[in-house]
Amino acid sequence: MLVFGTRPEAIKMCPLVRELQEQPDDFETLVCVTGQHRQMLDQVLEAFSVTPDYDLAVMEPGQTLFDITCHVLLNIKEALETSHPDIVLVHGDTTTSFAAALACFYLQIPVGHVEAGLRTRDLYSPWPEEFNRQAVDIISKYYFAPTEQARQNLLAEGKAAEHIYVTGNTGIDALRTTVHDGYTHPDLAWAQGSRLVLITAHRRENLGAPMHRLFRAIRRVMEEHPDTKAIYPIHMNPLVRSAAHAELDGFDRLRIIEPLSVLDFHNFLAASHAVLTDSGGIQEEAPGLGKPVLVMRDTTERPEGVEAGTLKLVGTQEESIYRSFTELLDNESVYEAMAHASNPYGDGHASKRIASILREST
Ligand code: UD1
Ligand code: UDP
Repeated sequence: MLVFGTRPEAIKMCPLVRELQEQPDDFETLVCVTGQHRQMLDQVLEAFSVTPDYDLAVMEPGQTLFDITCHVLLNIKEALETSHPDIVLVHGDTTTSFAAALACFYLQIPVGHVEAGLRTRDLYSPWPEEFNRQAVDIISKYYFAPTEQARQNLLAEGKAAEHIYVTGNTGIDALRTTVHDGYTHPDLAWAQGSRLVLITAHRRENLGAPMHRLFRAIRRVMEEHPDTKAIYPIHMNPLVRSAAHAELDGFDRLRIIEPLSVLDFHNFLAASHAVLTDSGGIQEEAPGLGKPVLVMRDTTERPEGVEAGTLKLVGTQEESIYRSFTELLDNESVYEAMAHASNPYGDGHASKRIASILREST
């Protein structure tokens, strides 16, 4: 059984769902979505034509970490007890993954962790994701680490070496199927002829004052660079929306649009000049496409992209974002040094590897 509930988990688990479903002689595949996200999850399920067997429908407006944890933990019990999975696969660092893994622990069902081993070692950054990821790794039996660095992190914590597999990131599997030449979209047509800046922001630790600072810095730099246009597919969190509208409304070279389907978003990424984000998944996708990313966070659990030169960690202070964004737009050699494709996150065959490991080990 694969359990997931938010947009990024779905984008990275659906390729694996499809891979396992293509091998019905070896696997009976069940999909349980928690519905931690609703619209943004359904968008991905539709894009990959995945129909869940269980939908726990937990999302509430303004949900707290208490709400998500308790509702997932209580609601998943019956799904696990009725289906008796041999193994449950969870992904990454969300509260869905943490609570689902905890439920499996209580029922003594083995857990496989997809995207295991990423670390900042600061429990409060990203918050609560660093805790979630470490907690899932305590519970898990099988570790599907996207990179060698992630494997080393797990080994350093004493995890069993024979159960750690370096597979690449399944997000890159998705990217291989979505980007294509000749893609068009009315918003891209609007930006044609300008340098396109793609923006996303949503982290819990950035809600409130930091988020206002990020948006103010972006707007100041863009006002000084008339050859830029920005597209910002905005997260559905109302707290993100109010901060964005407060800081960015009335600036006509920046378009706030509804969340894009992953098929569209990956093609927007491919068409962009630069990306400003606090997202985790985009830090993995952009290096593969050679797109410079300014990461508006204080820490990253994805150092491989920073080492590859495509990502720059710019913090959440207005002046540091202002300076780095200005430099990226004005200094050609800085831009060129970042804008080369290098893919530290695998070759796009991670799902195949995970399927064959599962076939042999379970
Ligand atoms: C969650 C994850 C985060 C991940 C992010 C991806 C946790 C604690 N956080 O954060 O790790 O990076 O998803 O986007 O697991 N909402 C909707 N419709 C949707 C999705 C969200 O209306 O489809 C609104 C709801 O009001 C919800 C709020 O957004 O209460 C926040 O969603 P939530 O899942 O709690 O947190 P995220 O910040 O999205
Ligand atoms: N994404 C998308 N539509 C959008 C914005 C992002 O499909 O409008 C995709 C993006 O390609 C990446 C994932 O969503 O795969 C990242 O999700 P998010 O930023 O919500 O979460 P995080 O990765 O930070 O956990």
